[in-house]
Amino acid sequence: MGRITTCVFDAYGTLFDVSAAAREAACEPGRAAFADKWTQLAEIWRLKQLQYTWLRAVTGHHTDFWKVTQDGLDFAMEAVGLDDPELRERLLALYWQLSAYPEVPDMLAALKTGGKTTAILSNGTSEMLDGAVSSADLQALLDDVLSVQTVGIFKPSSRVYDLVGQRFSCTPDQVLFVSSNGWDAAAATGYGFATAWVNRAGDPVDRLPWRPAHILSDLSGIPALVEAL
Ligand code: LAC
Repeated sequence: MGRITTCVFDAYGTLFDVSAAAREAACEPGRAAFADKWTQLAEIWRLKQLQYTWLRAVTGHHTDFWKVTQDGLDFAMEAVGLDDPELRERLLALYWQLSAYPEVPDMLAALKTGGKTTAILSNGTSEMLDGAVSSADLQALLDDVLSVQTVGIFKPSSRVYDLVGQRFSCTPDQVLFVSSNGWDAAAATGYGFATAWVNRAGDPVDRLPWRPAHILSDLSGIPALVEAL
């Protein structure tokens, strides 16, 4: 058995497909005007949502992730020329029931069979995360869902990564932290976690003082990686 006791996952973009809200809304009847804009909207929405978390963290103006999610969407809708309050409400509602990536249940089940502790560590509010976890039916496969709400700052503050050791009484080198955000995986390497970056899009590695220790194209290789460490 390897040294990893605890596998911790980022939520949005890692376990849950954040582009699913815009993709699903675009397929609904009466949304012809949105059909050719949803990919651009999804990209700007995500980028602005994350920028607002970083800016609020460095300026000490914390708010919750639901607020930055709405602010990011409002910026993105204006940027692509959409003024549609009903669509806005629909996109926000869909954000509470994002699909999990298809390999997630089997991957988590394999970790549980191997005796590992599994958890989410996310910028999301507890309420948003509970919504996503229950709509994807993952409750039985996760030991806990940790939200930054309890420390009042967003990732990549080390105070967020501290939550893992506080909750599970483990040392950083016993943790594999998995994120689809290259900057999150890199910062977690700096913190001392073993890290895996799930790079579905084949993006370049972020130029930061640290790098993700492992790079995978999806989550299916996580149980084997854990055993190998
Ligand atoms: C999260 C964002 C960063 O779930 O994806 O924390």
